[in-house]
Amino acid sequence: MALWGGRFSEKTNDLVAKLSESISYDQRLYAHDIAGSTAHAKMLAKQGIIPQEDADQIVAELANILKEIDAGDFEFKEEYEDIHMNIESRLIERIGDAGGRVHSGRSRNDQVATDIRLYLRDELDSCIGLIKNVMQYTVELGRKYQDAIMPGFTHLQHAQPVLFAHHLLAYVEMFDRDRERLEQLRGRINRLPLGAGALAGCTLPLDRHYVAEQLGFDSVIQNSMDAVSDRDFMIELLSNFSILMMHLSRLSEDIIFWKSQEASFIELGDAFCTGSSLMPQKKNPDIAELTRGKSGRVYGSLVSLLTLMKGLPLCYNRDMQEDKEPVFDALDTVKMILATFGPMVASIEIDEARMLEAASDPALMATDLAEWLVKEGVPFRTAHHRVGAFVGWCNEHNNALDAVSLDQMQETIPEAKAECLDLFDPKRCVAARDFVGGTAPNQVHYQLARWEAIFQGN
Ligand code: ARG
Repeated sequence: MALWGGRFSEKTNDLVAKLSESISYDQRLYAHDIAGSTAHAKMLAKQGIIPQEDADQIVAELANILKEIDAGDFEFKEEYEDIHMNIESRLIERIGDAGGRVHSGRSRNDQVATDIRLYLRDELDSCIGLIKNVMQYTVELGRKYQDAIMPGFTHLQHAQPVLFAHHLLAYVEMFDRDRERLEQLRGRINRLPLGAGALAGCTLPLDRHYVAEQLGFDSVIQNSMDAVSDRDFMIELLSNFSILMMHLSRLSEDIIFWKSQEASFIELGDAFCTGSSLMPQKKNPDIAELTRGKSGRVYGSLVSLLTLMKGLPLCYNRDMQEDKEPVFDALDTVKMILATFGPMVASIEIDEARMLEAASDPALMATDLAEWLVKEGVPFRTAHHRVGAFVGWCNEHNNALDAVSLDQMQETIPEAKAECLDLFDPKRCVAARDFVGGTAPNQVHYQLARWEAIFQGN
C-alpha cells in the first residue's frame, strides 16, 4: 500500500501510477534526501519528539540505504512514486515502527524543496569550477598569442584592428560574470525549507535552526508557505545557465566563423572536429555548433519552468513535480558543454600572418586619422566628414588610403601633415589605444596577468 493509502479503498490505476511517478528521474536526489532525513531524525530525538534509540536506528539504517544505492543494489519502485517514499518505505521495511517515525513533522513538500536545494548547492559548486576551467583555457590561448592582431568586427564587417587576446578576454569577462551570478545564487539557495510541513508548519516542537546547522544552510526560510512554494532559485539557475550558454554560443559562432574558409583565421584540433559521411575533405567545428544548438535547449528549460509556475496558486501543487526534468537536463547539458568547451578552445591554433593581413587594410585605420585631426583641434564631426571625403576620393581614384601623397590627402583634408601617412599601421593603431580596457599590447598583457593571478588565488 502507498504510504499515503489510509483513506483509499481502491488500488491506484496503473496509468495513474505511471503518470505520477517521479522516481525514474528524482532518484538522483537520493544522497541529499538521506542527508535531509538524517538531520531531521537527529533533531526529532534532540527535541524529545521521538526516542533517541529510534533516531539512532533511523540514522544507521539510512547510512545502509545510502550504501545500497551507491552500490546499485537498491531497487527503486514505481509504486512508491518518488525518491522520498522509496527511501522511507525501505526504512520501514528494515526497522519497522522506528522508521515510521522519521516523517514526524515533515511533508514531502518541504522535503523535496530541501533535497533540491541541497542537490543544487553541490551542483552549483561543480559548475562554478567548470566555468573557471573554461576561463583558464581561454586566458591561456590569449597568452599563447598575446601579440597577434586581427580585425575587430561590427556588423560582421571589418571595423578596427584589435589584439586576438583582447577579443578572447572579452569572453573571460562574460564567463566571470556567469560565475559571479552562480555564486550569488548559492546564497539564495542555501536556506532551509524543512519545518514548513505541507504548508502551515506543525504542532511538534521542531528546531529548524538545528537542522539548518547540520545541513550547512545559512538560514531558515521565514515563511512556511513561501518555503514550500518557492521555485525562484530554480528559475534563476536556468536563467543564469541561459546567459552562460548565450555567451558560449557567441564564442562558438566566432570560432565557427574564424575557422571558415572565408576567414581562415584558426584551425581546431582534430579531436574536437568531426568529418562528413560523404565529403572526404570535410573537417567541421561540430562542438562549437552543438554548443550553439544546445543553448536553445537550455532556454527551453527556462521557459518550461517559468510557464509551469506562472499560474500556480499557493502552496504546493503537483505541477511542481515537473520542475525537476528541465533543471536536470539543463544541468547535464551545461556541465557536458563546459567540460568539452575548454579543451576545444585549448586546441585552437591561429594563423597570425593571415589575421594580420586582414587587419592591415588601411581603411581600418580611418578612425585614427579622424582622431589625429581632433588632436589638431578640428571638431570631431568635421574631422569625420573630411576623412569620409578622403575615403571617397581614394575609392574614386582606385587608391588605397596609404598609397596617396600628402598633396593628394590635403585635397580633402587640408589640415593633414606628413605624419598622417604613417597612421595606417595596425601595430601602431592597437598600441595607441593605451587606456584601461583598451587593446594596446601592454594593457592586454596586464589583463592576462591579472587573470593569471586570480587563477593562482593571488
Ligand atoms: N515527487 C513530488 C515532487 O517532486 C514530491 C512532493 C509531493 N507532494 C505531494 N503532496 N504530492 O514534487
